Amino acid sequence: MILDIIDKKRLGKELSYKELDYFFNGYLNGDICDYQMSAFLMAVCINGMTNEEVFALTKIFIDSGDCLEFSNIDGIKVDKHSTGGIGDKTTLVIAPIVASLGIPVIKMSGRGLGYTGGTIDKLESIKGYNVGLSEKEIVKQVKDIGIVITGQTHDLVPMDKVIYALRDVTSTVKSIPLVASSIMSKKIASGADKILIDIKVGNGALIDTKEKAKELSDLMIKIGKIYDKEVRCIISDMNTPLGYSVGNSLEVLEAIDVLKGEEKSNSFVDLCIDLASEMVSMGLNISKEEAKSKVINSINDGSAYNKFIELVEAQGGDIKSLKVSNRKYSIKANKNGTLKAINALEIGKLSLGLGAGKLNIKDKIDYTVGVKLNKLVGEEVKKGDVLATLYVNRTIPTINVDEIFTIK
Ligand code: URA
Repeated sequence: MILDIIDKKRLGKELSYKELDYFFNGYLNGDICDYQMSAFLMAVCINGMTNEEVFALTKIFIDSGDCLEFSNIDGIKVDKHSTGGIGDKTTLVIAPIVASLGIPVIKMSGRGLGYTGGTIDKLESIKGYNVGLSEKEIVKQVKDIGIVITGQTHDLVPMDKVIYALRDVTSTVKSIPLVASSIMSKKIASGADKILIDIKVGNGALIDTKEKAKELSDLMIKIGKIYDKEVRCIISDMNTPLGYSVGNSLEVLEAIDVLKGEEKSNSFVDLCIDLASEMVSMGLNISKEEAKSKVINSINDGSAYNKFIELVEAQGGDIKSLKVSNRKYSIKANKNGTLKAINALEIGKLSLGLGAGKLNIKDKIDYTVGVKLNKLVGEEVKKGDVLATLYVNRTIPTINVDEIFTIK
């Protein structure tokens, strides 16, 4: 049976719900080994899955754990998920904005994966911030202040935890059916009424073309329909890092600047406003235009920033504890011209190499290090101008400026 199932996928044939259920639950309870599941996942990466198979897999994932239930909390709960990017701190900005407008936000975020940082790691750069709230604590805090950002509760889609860990080390992450079922199972089990997905496209993302992003978007919307959840997707660029900062404390500080209205317009601020407007439009059932003016007001009148501080305090964090390393190193322009591109993937690798993420599972994250860009794409630069400042605590790796920055 086990080999028949792997063989069927190798030949690109469709598997039934029963076969998928047997195979995946067999893996979860130890009857199917890592190498058999790895072979199967690689066959999925190569041959894909039919929509029916993806719907079945999503259900098997959801049923592997508990589903959270927030129907006793008033208001439409809108959740947001990003497929992951370099410098992606949008949750830290948009969750408080949306909550400040009276829409309950229950956000269960993840840790960094590969070159991309995770919201939970970023929040842990605030001393004392508790990312491990129980379901009871989540409900209490949402009722009290309308917002929670925490890690996933223990029993939420345990199947995804083990399959994702295996995908991460077998080069089987980049598969549209596997990404769709992984994301949608977690979002549906998290109890949101409506879901917004930010699909990142580019060299610093899982998805490298707009066509694939559209395919993923269509599939996730279809899964949402089965569970009676409205799903909207925004496709956004990840060839360039988002905003100025990459690295945990640095990113939280940048998010604070945006919440305070100190950063008026750049691609990161624009994306935050776009995503927050979409969530507010979904949460209040109003047009995106109307939602956008509420979003901008909530930044301008200080309510978004105040909500962020309320969140940090409620989860035990000390915002004054945020620290960046005082050892700095400048990367300078080697010619005059226009900054045409900043390679997101290379910046992600650089930040990871400085210790902002984990290269090995046992590594400890250094929250104080990272990369702060001094120039954004489109700006004029002169030879000798500082393009970026590295915040460091260890030996700086060899840097090839031309590999990261394209100046023409
Ligand atoms: N994010 C997820 O949660 N799952 C994937 O498979 C990819 C990105």
